[in-house]
Amino acid sequence: MIKNDLYLRALKGEVVERPPVWMMRQAGRYLPEFMAIKEKYDFFTRCRTPELASEITVQPIRRYGMDAAILFSDILVIPQAMNIEVEMKPNFGPYLPNPVRNQNDVDNVIVPDVAVELDYVMQAIKATKDLLNNEIPLIGFAGSPWTILCYCVQGQGSKNFDKAKQFCFTNPVAAHQLLQKITDTTIAYLKAKVTAGCDAVQIFDSWGGMLSPTDYQEFSWQYINQIIEALKDDAPVIAFGKGCWFALGEMAKSNASALGIDWTCSAQNARYLTGGNITLQGNFDPTRLFSPPGDIKKMVKQMINDFGKDKYIVNLGHGILPNIPLDNAKAFIDAVKEYHV
Ligand code: CP3
Repeated sequence: MIKNDLYLRALKGEVVERPPVWMMRQAGRYLPEFMAIKEKYDFFTRCRTPELASEITVQPIRRYGMDAAILFSDILVIPQAMNIEVEMKPNFGPYLPNPVRNQNDVDNVIVPDVAVELDYVMQAIKATKDLLNNEIPLIGFAGSPWTILCYCVQGQGSKNFDKAKQFCFTNPVAAHQLLQKITDTTIAYLKAKVTAGCDAVQIFDSWGGMLSPTDYQEFSWQYINQIIEALKDDAPVIAFGKGCWFALGEMAKSNASALGIDWTCSAQNARYLTGGNITLQGNFDPTRLFSPPGDIKKMVKQMINDFGKDKYIVNLGHGILPNIPLDNAKAFIDAVKEYHV
């Protein structure tokens, strides 16, 4: 049994004393104790060493006491396991030297045995569960198939993922084969993560908002929905689509336990578009954490009032930025803990 189960109760839609809080990308980005580890070990060594990944996962919890932890890892461990080389270049980000660009490339992508290829993630989960000692739940995650395709085809981050979209629109058959291989791998991966100890899983569709509403259904949502359907009896699933407000109506009809909202959609509009019944998570503008702590606290209180304290998980609208002052992150978390109606 988990001692602080606020987050799990909010996912079930139960009435709570206050909403739970955590921050996307809370692990491994801005804390000095993380920077000390980062100086010594490169990115994938940190991901692949259970003692390091688990330590980085619990660092923000020790400092701020969030209501859930998210495993330190990356969405790009999936293409790596699928036979696609992925490097993490300092001050540049992900770099894939041999991007997927044609049918032959897609044929060379494998659906791996995740128990073998991604065993290091499962070991990191077990080590993290030991450190957490059942105090709070642990969130596992994966990228959406579309977001993973974006990196596999583009080969790096991008403002518009034009090469990824070009591939989908000129070679839809190969694109759908790739998306299905990623989906199959992701389902096996998330199931293994739950078996290893994750209490909930979140799907990050960071680049879903690059697609038109029609293309979103075809190239992103149908695959996310396959994952939700496959996982729904194993653990609660949270779907976060950045820039995907236009799809919220469809998403709310799924078996997801909660939907992530970014800061460009108001609480009122998000509740309206989702029909008012599903748990929502979000949506503080990550750059608003630069405001003075007193202002942050006022804005967080207002945000909770706007979403309502129930069926709600306080979070940012996207990942925390690396240069946020420590006291400002603390103000965000404290404001939720101090919340009363
Ligand atoms: O809370 C956490 O930080 C948990 C771990 C986590 C990482 N990446 C670690 C990481 C999570 C949940 C992710 C998800 C992720 N990774 C997403 C989806 C969420 C989002 O922000 O949209 C995406 C698109 C990626 C791909 C990725 N990984 C990029 C674009 C980059 C470079 C830019 C950046 O965000 O720093 C990474 C590298 C990465 N992943 C770092 C960390 C801590 C920084 C590199 C380093 O520490 O050396």
